[in-house]
Amino acid sequence: MSDLHDDKILILDFGSQYTQLIARRVREAGVYCEIFPWDVEFERIREFGARGFILSGGPESTLAADKPEVPLELFALGQPILGICYGMQAMAQQLGGKVENVGKSEFGYARVRARGHTALLRDIHDEVNEEGHGLLDVWMSHGDRVAELPAGFKLMASTESAPIAGIADEERKIYGLQFHPEVTHTTQGVAIYQRFLHDICGCGSAWNSANIVEATISEVRARVGDGHVILGLSGGVDSSVVAALLHEAIGDQLCCIFVDNGLLRHREGDFVMEQFAEHMGVNVIRIDAEDRFLEKLKGLSDPEDKRKAIGNLFIEIFEEEARKHHDADWLAQGTIYPDVIESAGASTGKAHLIKSHHNVGGLPLDMRLKLVEPLRELFKDEVRRVGVALGLPHDMVYRHPFPGPGLGVRILGEVKKEYADTLRLADDIFITELRAHDLYERVSQAFVVFLPVKSVGVTGDGRRYNFVVALRAVETIDFMTARWADLPYDFLDHVSRRIMNEIEGIARVVYDISGKPPGTIEWE
Ligand code: XMP
Repeated sequence: MSDLHDDKILILDFGSQYTQLIARRVREAGVYCEIFPWDVEFERIREFGARGFILSGGPESTLAADKPEVPLELFALGQPILGICYGMQAMAQQLGGKVENVGKSEFGYARVRARGHTALLRDIHDEVNEEGHGLLDVWMSHGDRVAELPAGFKLMASTESAPIAGIADEERKIYGLQFHPEVTHTTQGVAIYQRFLHDICGCGSAWNSANIVEATISEVRARVGDGHVILGLSGGVDSSVVAALLHEAIGDQLCCIFVDNGLLRHREGDFVMEQFAEHMGVNVIRIDAEDRFLEKLKGLSDPEDKRKAIGNLFIEIFEEEARKHHDADWLAQGTIYPDVIESAGASTGKAHLIKSHHNVGGLPLDMRLKLVEPLRELFKDEVRRVGVALGLPHDMVYRHPFPGPGLGVRILGEVKKEYADTLRLADDIFITELRAHDLYERVSQAFVVFLPVKSVGVTGDGRRYNFVVALRAVETIDFMTARWADLPYDFLDHVSRRIMNEIEGIARVVYDISGKPPGTIEWE
């Protein structure tokens, strides 16, 4: 097997909301890549050893005074470069071209005419017009535009409102696109990335799940040797995939600690044990800590207090258990690549776009444990594919995200066991029905929220006075912004009837139609 990291691409981030999407497109084309902030020390860029560079878009204007710039040394490395949107404008301006603002932004679909038969766009088109020019349907999002080509560049593409929508210096293999090939609305986007990565940069396509699994397993074996590893298994996608990977790599040297805080979804604890302990033979210790969590939450109604209480108790219990494992040398964590970018961004004070996952961060174990983080290089979609390649069930690997504090933030105000039990049943009905109607994977996240207010209802034998639940379902790409999901009325009706008929404590079901912003996805 060729080394997974032999052919790699470096993406310089100028702050675009699409930067991670670019990275995912590159990875999907089978090429490893990383994202660095545009102003990282140049030495790090040189050392990285990329076969090519992509300059992302960004929110700034190249006409502003202290705008982000492309490091000029980059052009001296002689590797191919693809600048996208701001990346193209910055490059064009720094190489002697001109950028202007004509007071018109372009946002949305556009039709681009390819020009000049460049190596990047040759024979890539959605249609060909009568004169034989390739036409591409693309996604645009920009205010400024390139007005004059820099020396050595030729015109590669144009639209009506951006006559210079693509530029190319074929000799130096430097290309710029005003539109966003990483966005799926650009129908030929994948073809454009593949052309750049494979034909122009000469990268192979070694980056795939099978190779990732194989390489990660041998890396873990080499690092851990015959040491012992403990892992906090939560039942979420990341820790589940780490468990499966480590089990494959080191078998019984792995011990998973699963803290059941009583705030999990319906049958979740049993499901984790069935999947890992029974089916896969993974060493899992289940700590039933429902009582301790409920006790800690007594009298707490402020969301932040509840979050802190749950997080701190989790750490306390995990540490108690971990300390019993005197032979442990390593602590495994499900850190994934977006977390790595986020903390890199945070340390340089340039955290753009990246969501804070509010997870229980590094566990401050005062034990001498070394960290093993086998998913550090992977995006969530790659983690999922690796999970499937390792034989984890599809439904587990493609689950919606679930917050660390669990139902603790889906029961408004004080958490009580009877509320949690009622909520679990309602949530299970909603999720089961979403799956049965093929809607589960069409929404990004769905759940039920318990409202501790009573409402009047009527049943065959009289009046009832019971609690309210809210159904929440959203569609989102990055969880930073979200739209409420437009679920069919008859589906909502069916779910609402089932919940009210089958669960005694609930008298009313409402559907949450708040977008984010200004709402958040969770209610607390
Ligand atoms: P919000 O409610 O902030 O949620 O719009 C965005 C995403 O983050 C999840 N979330 C959490 N995840 N611990 C977590 O691990 C938390 O405290 C937490 N709060 C929100 C939420 O489920 C959604 O996917």
